[in-house]
Amino acid sequence: MTTTDPTLARPGVDVHTRILGIETSCDETAAAVVVGGRVVRSSVVSSQVDIHARFGGVVPEIASRAHVDLLTPVIAEALVEAGVDGSELDAVAATYGPGLVGALLVGVSTAKALALVWGVPFVAVNHLEAHLYAALLEDPTLELPIVVLLVSGGHTMLIEMEGHGRYRMLGSTIDDAAGEAFDKVGRYLGLGYPGGPAIDRIALEGDPIAIRFPRAMLAEGLDFSFSGLKTSVVNHVRKHPEASTADVAASFQEAVVDVLVTKARRAARQIGAKGLVLGGGVAANSLLRERFLSACVEDGIHGSLPSRALCTDNAAMVAAAAWWRLGTDGPSPLDTGADPNLRLPLLP
Ligand code: KG4
Ligand code: ZN
Repeated sequence: MTTTDPTLARPGVDVHTRILGIETSCDETAAAVVVGGRVVRSSVVSSQVDIHARFGGVVPEIASRAHVDLLTPVIAEALVEAGVDGSELDAVAATYGPGLVGALLVGVSTAKALALVWGVPFVAVNHLEAHLYAALLEDPTLELPIVVLLVSGGHTMLIEMEGHGRYRMLGSTIDDAAGEAFDKVGRYLGLGYPGGPAIDRIALEGDPIAIRFPRAMLAEGLDFSFSGLKTSVVNHVRKHPEASTADVAASFQEAVVDVLVTKARRAARQIGAKGLVLGGGVAANSLLRERFLSACVEDGIHGSLPSRALCTDNAAMVAAAAWWRLGTDGPSPLDTGADPNLRLPLLP
């Protein structure tokens, strides 16, 4: 099975279907128009990072209010950029979970209202499923089954995607998510919020083998643990206050990437995957991208790396996932609410 030959059950959902996607699950306000689940006609992302940076993390109430202010202009820009009028759309989709409940509600309510006004279906999209579809958007040659390493601020998972909507959880973090570890260590090192991009940058000037930080659970299994690593960084800096921040950042990043890549390769081998895919905000990390691709070349497996803009939260991935969902399940009921704890639907 390839990702380009869907057997869509619903009539009227085809390569011409134009979907407006909306993403407001955390601190990115985003809208995009995607045609046929594949062609990105526009993708607008307004990041609230600057608003939250002075608090050292995302403040939920501030995020919701910012989405209220930003969403209408972001949607308008996405429509103008795509050159379509709202009435020419075939569906409106929004992320309905997981995420911050107030933030999700802004996107969900807006999508439902627009769907009603334009007389088109509303599609509720799972944010995690959307991250999986980000890779498929750019890599039509991808053959299933694939293993997706999904690494974001809230999640660290190894998922087997056997078919569209058919997922198995191969491994996940037992404590902190990888992005959370980057953010906590970044904050501790005084690098500001979000820590991931800041560590990525400063690590370029550091020595990745200066400090041998622990690699938890590296030898076996597909689960992850990052809270011990974060504690090791804190202990090291307390004991060696003179240590170079760049060396600490580079050595920390080296440990995280080592674990992520080792486990992703193991998972791909274990299920006989045809491809290995990276997704989620941490997939924007330069060292992870480099190591991931060379591991795929070494293992003779197709490696798929979405562009950085598609790795971090965006609405193109929401519209792409919505196209598949609309084709298989049809429209979502208008009484679908926001679900902050939504999980990925797994095969029994
Ligand atoms: O997927 P995402 O945009 O939002 C969530 O759904 O969580 O991921 C955000 C996470 C943050 O923890 C951020 O620090 C991390 O992705 N991140 C990075 C990089 N860019 C973003 N981590 C490491 N290196 C990066 N270049
Ligand atoms: Zn995300």
